Amino acid sequence: MASEDLFKKIIAHAKEYGFIFPSSEIYDGLGAVYDYGQNGVELKNNIKNYWWSAMVKLNEEIVGLDSAIFMHPTVWKASGHVNAFNDPLIDNKDSKKRYRADVLIEDHRAKIQAKIDKEVEKAKAKFGDTFDEAQFLATNQRVLENQAKIDALNKRFVSALETDNLEELKQIIIDCEIVCPISGSKNWTDVRQFNLMFDTKIGSLSDDANVIYLRPETAQGIFVNYLNVQKTGRMKIPFGIAQIGKAFRNEIVARQFIFRMREFEQMEMQYFVKPGDEMHWYEKWKATRMKWHKALGLGENKYRFHNHDKLAHYANAAADVEFEFPFGFKELEGIHSRTDFDLKNHQEFSGKKLQYFDNEANESYVPYVVETSIGLDRMFLAVLSSAYFEETLTKEDGTTDQRVVLRIPPQLAPVKVAVLPLMKKDGLPEMAREIMKELQFDFNCQYEEKDTIGRRYRRHDAIGTPFCITIDHQSLEDKTVTIRYRDTMEQERVEIKKLPEIIDGLVSFKNLLKKL
Ligand code: GAP
Repeated sequence: MASEDLFKKIIAHAKEYGFIFPSSEIYDGLGAVYDYGQNGVELKNNIKNYWWSAMVKLNEEIVGLDSAIFMHPTVWKASGHVNAFNDPLIDNKDSKKRYRADVLIEDHRAKIQAKIDKEVEKAKAKFGDTFDEAQFLATNQRVLENQAKIDALNKRFVSALETDNLEELKQIIIDCEIVCPISGSKNWTDVRQFNLMFDTKIGSLSDDANVIYLRPETAQGIFVNYLNVQKTGRMKIPFGIAQIGKAFRNEIVARQFIFRMREFEQMEMQYFVKPGDEMHWYEKWKATRMKWHKALGLGENKYRFHNHDKLAHYANAAADVEFEFPFGFKELEGIHSRTDFDLKNHQEFSGKKLQYFDNEANESYVPYVVETSIGLDRMFLAVLSSAYFEETLTKEDGTTDQRVVLRIPPQLAPVKVAVLPLMKKDGLPEMAREIMKELQFDFNCQYEEKDTIGRRYRRHDAIGTPFCITIDHQSLEDKTVTIRYRDTMEQERVEIKKLPEIIDGLVSFKNLLKKL
């Protein structure tokens, strides 16, 4: 299936099965804002739980925080967001569509890279086992020409970004003959900077002094509280503070469903370290975070690191964990070495000392910070898009049937167990309710008695429920039920008393966390 079609199907499926709805849908929605439905909120909570447990529960030196969304306006001057949290935007005069200039150039670069990849694939198919990829890349004429184009483009692009040279960004777009995907024309405006922060007013007066911002990242709440936490928690460096919360950005190019939203959630952890030690911790957190991702089993090859072309105003090293979404490899998480940029600036703007006294070294310093920052909604999309499968099943009589199944990692599945009486009579519903009453203390369960058992199985495949339990007449006699496994569709008869152990074996976070 073409990846574009797949993505459309996933979006439709997310709505049809109560995962994600457009915000204010009855008013035709609001651009790049979404609501999470009954299954979406469960999946989201389970992702949060996995992240929080891996950070806070499993690391003695990391603690949590829940800071306010509204912060003193000077926070955003000190952090550099008022001056530097901009995207370079460009309009196409014919389609009237607005784009990020850097994204247009990156997409163009990706197209050249795709040509190289295609050559490699073709050669691989032709030469089979004898194919030497390194040699091919170093000698094939077409590959070399395209690689030279990429190298030349990168040089200009990075330099333009580093010097904030907006004219040069436009010139690159013109020289590369990049056209508007809608109008197909090269009729571009100049490139302008656009600040991504939303502002609003606090209090009843409407003068400028009352303007405040909706936070564009949760990290600043951690920075301004770092000494509160350090002192009250008697934390010793290195230590971390973790937080999950909403962030807001007035994204210009807000497309691709929940990939780029205007209101979204971040899961961020700032790790405070001794100056000079930051590269050690940066590498360590890169490896730790990759392990966290891969433990979920969404696919070893779906991840890669991407080092930033242009470092953010606060960083001395930065890499993204990229994930293969249906629309290609894109940023899922950022790992940044933020130096002492934020704390030093908050010290200067607030006039309050933000130094840490290191007992062992007998000295005071402003710590350096390594941050891990992942978008919860993007993680949700990574899980959802890699879980979606359409399968053709051959029945015993030779006819075929279709099913859509979400192979969500069982620990993250919204509903763990469907409890299904085979019929709505003969005491089966009562017995099913009894079983459910016991299981629901430990697992999110759903009771269903409407429709044929086959249809009920399909409904639960479609929301990713790992276990369906069917209560039939034999259950009344010998206290056994059938348990059906989502992925294999195999069924087995088990004693009711064994259910908690079987279910827990697959859905418990403990087994997942032990892999870390
Ligand atoms: N504190 C650092 C920071 O905010 P970032 O790279 O701008 O860094 C971190 O954002 C993560 O937040 C990204 O990797 C992405 O997963 C998520 N994110 C950023 N902007 C987003 C948006 N508009 N919609 C959804 N997720 C977003």
